[in-house]
Amino acid sequence: MSEWIDVAPESEFGEGQARLVLVNGMDVAVFNLDGDYYAIEDRCTHDGSPLLGSDLPAEELIDADQVICPRHGARFCIRTGAALTPPAYEDIPIFPVRVNQGNVQVQVA
Ligand code: FES
Repeated sequence: MSEWIDVAPESEFGEGQARLVLVNGMDVAVFNLDGDYYAIEDRCTHDGSPLLGSDLPAEELIDADQVICPRHGARFCIRTGAALTPPAYEDIPIFPVRVNQGNVQVQVA
C-alpha cells in the first residue's frame, strides 16, 4: 500500500494556491480549489512540459479549475485531469489527496 506524503500544512495552503512536490521521482502538482484539494502529475501529456514546474507563477497557469500548459497552451481540468483543448488529447493522471492532522497529503501509487 502506498504511503501518504506530506504536501504542506493546511493552514499554509490557501484557496487558489498550488504546490509542487516530488513523490517517488515524479513531480506532482497539488491545488486548492475553493477549499478542496486535487493532485495531478505535473507533466503535460502533449509533449511532456512541466506545468507548475515551468517556473511561471501559478496565477498565470491556473484559470478557475483548469491548468494551462505554458508550452503550447493545452488546458486540463484540475479536478479530473481531463485534457480539454488541443494539442493535448490524453488525460493527466490524478492522485488522491487528504487532510490528516492538519497536513495536506497526497498518495501516489
Ligand atoms: S507540451 Fe503542453 S501543450 Fe505542448
